[in-house]
Amino acid sequence: MTTQHETPTHPLATLTEEALRTRVAAELAQARARSALLTESVDEADLVRQHSPLMSPLVWDLAHIGSQEELWLVRDVGGREPLRPEIDGLYDAFQHSRASRVDLPLLTPPETRTYVAEVRDKALDALAHSSLRGRRLEEHAFAFGMIAQHEQQHDETMLATHQLREGAPVLHAAPPPPSQGAPVPAEVLVPAGPFTMGTSTEPWALDNERPAHRVELPAYVIDAAPVTNGQYAEFIEAGGYDDPRWWSDAGWRHRRDAGLVAPRFWERDSDRRWWRRRFGVLEPVAADEPVVHVCFHEAQAYAAWAGKRLPTEAEWEKAARWDPATGRSRRFPWGDGDPTPGRANLGQRHLGPAPVGAYPAGASPLGVHQLIGDVWEWTSSGWHPYPGFQMFPYPEYSEVFFGGDYRVLRGGSFGAAPVAVRGTFRNWDHPIRRQIFSGFRCARDATPTEASG
Ligand code: AVJ
Ligand code: FE
Repeated sequence: MTTQHETPTHPLATLTEEALRTRVAAELAQARARSALLTESVDEADLVRQHSPLMSPLVWDLAHIGSQEELWLVRDVGGREPLRPEIDGLYDAFQHSRASRVDLPLLTPPETRTYVAEVRDKALDALAHSSLRGRRLEEHAFAFGMIAQHEQQHDETMLATHQLREGAPVLHAAPPPPSQGAPVPAEVLVPAGPFTMGTSTEPWALDNERPAHRVELPAYVIDAAPVTNGQYAEFIEAGGYDDPRWWSDAGWRHRRDAGLVAPRFWERDSDRRWWRRRFGVLEPVAADEPVVHVCFHEAQAYAAWAGKRLPTEAEWEKAARWDPATGRSRRFPWGDGDPTPGRANLGQRHLGPAPVGAYPAGASPLGVHQLIGDVWEWTSSGWHPYPGFQMFPYPEYSEVFFGGDYRVLRGGSFGAAPVAVRGTFRNWDHPIRRQIFSGFRCARDATPTEASG
């Protein structure tokens, strides 16, 4: 597979060496500002507390961020000795389950802050001295981009911990923009044909997004927007949670065992109206916003009830990247430029998804909206490598998770940072998870008439 079906010039590849250094420093600083906000908005007791067995204590995430940065930027790229070799094991995600981390002899919050600041100093020194060329790890500053993404991924995880935390609100943000422009249609037809999936040219793409490869799809129809709270509430009202017809066997078993009746964080008042608790604030559920905090099984059941199905990962990506005018795959639905506040709801700028129609500037050429940002979208696909996959630079990011019961999520959420989201970015989680910022859209096979249209 050649790269001619991807974007010809990548924004990062056009930068001078000095501009690339500046860009890297800005990404690292932006990630750290977010980490600081998430860990300085609560007191020390809150930082070391286990808010949920599904999550690490916030202070663990912060030290783990520093530990990964030390491993790749300070020790590997910088060639320096370990700062605190004795703590490596504490912050190795594979040695301790999330639920058990609260019992470890972790660094205290002040020790953690000192540690991550020391690591950052040395990482910036490594940035100043790396040629950003030659070794694959340093080419186009890959290791730095990987570490900025890693910190932002943990910032999204810490935001999910905040959502699970009890008590008065501590996080504040402007509300998302309203719907604007022409009404969003229900569905969009994607014509049959090949497209380029994955990437061989995106400098900071992770191993699981590579390489670019040709995928042939029959015609299909995909929802032009994520499923909304209003639509999802109709499924609830229609008795969807009580009807095994809509659920897979595993889904029905889980729905029964876990007692699922509605998305997580929803509650009903005496008038049977739905409310949701979000970052410590109880609000009426907004009918026109994408539903969030549903697991894969709930998404799959809704789709079956609606007479549809979840899109495959390939269908999601073709809708997000394929440009019918050129046949090329774009970096994002709107083109090859980076995300901006007008194109997508990313980066924790707003503390929830925006209503359908809020980002007409972010729509794809076929008119599919809000693929990037707002909510992670469950797909029907399991977590598998692309043909030609090569592990890089370590197996514990992607490779050790291939197979298993994971399902792929696409597109990023309001809690995910621009640096860690793109048209090729692949996320995955267990099908029962819903503390993440997960929603979905539906798809279906095109009818013969539609397909020949
Ligand atoms: C890609 C979101 C599944 O959080 O488990 C963070 C990202 N990998 N540190 C995760 C990750 C290592 C990962 N996900
Ligand atoms: Fe990590």
